[in-house]
Amino acid sequence: MTDKKITINTIKEMKGGDRIVTVTAYDYPSALYSDRAGVHIILVGDSLAQVVLGYDTTVPITMDEMLHHTRAAGRGCHRSLLVADMPFGSYQAGPAQAFENACRFLKETPASTVKLEGGVTMAETIGFLTVRGIPVMGHIGLMPQSVHQMGGYRIQGRGEEGLRALLDDARAVQDAGAYSIVLEGIPQEAARQVTEELSIPTIGIGAGPHCDGQVLVLNDMLGLYDKFVPKFVKRYAELGQEMQRAVTEFAKEVTEGKFPEKEHSYD
Ligand code: KIV
Repeated sequence: MTDKKITINTIKEMKGGDRIVTVTAYDYPSALYSDRAGVHIILVGDSLAQVVLGYDTTVPITMDEMLHHTRAAGRGCHRSLLVADMPFGSYQAGPAQAFENACRFLKETPASTVKLEGGVTMAETIGFLTVRGIPVMGHIGLMPQSVHQMGGYRIQGRGEEGLRALLDDARAVQDAGAYSIVLEGIPQEAARQVTEELSIPTIGIGAGPHCDGQVLVLNDMLGLYDKFVPKFVKRYAELGQEMQRAVTEFAKEVTEGKFPEKEHSYD
């Protein structure tokens, strides 16, 4: 790992080389420890809506909430590339709306790039942003902001037609000027084909091992989200259980008069 600040050029140059390590983070400590761990990209994902704010989907989260958390994560992010996720309703109305809201992320937070969901249908918007100086990370396959349109969270890119549509989306996002693309919830063979086809790096989540990088939602991999554990998540820690154990111990010691002790008290 290098100490050099990671830019979109670093990420583009990693195509086909070292794997791009990405995690989501939503506040100062989660960004700080992820940055110190040496990840390449910290994504302030709109998964914040579910794993931190307790909503059922990512749909309700607002621009103001995303800006607030991107600023907080930015204070802990020194070396990794900080990416802000554009929330539902902040870009779908058209390029002008997308430009206005993407500008807010670049002006009002330390994020230097945005991510948005959509393939062929968002190509015009991605092009509009990139030619005006806003780097865009694409996101295709399973797009959680379209959960109501999909009728649930469904694996995408299956079958001949699904694969063709996925490849069309991937090419459209790349041709519009995106510097990288998230592939979510697709068969590993489809992800392999998209990764081979594109000249920009692919970052997979639930897309198998053939992508140029991998991303996980931090709270999922740390055991801090109790509602649902998707098949593609590996739990690297059980911090939820550890948090409960520690608070239970604190409660017990206070109840029993064991805390605070002499060393925690002032004379
Ligand atoms: O919001 C998010 O966390 C994301 C990742 C799943 C890529 O978009």
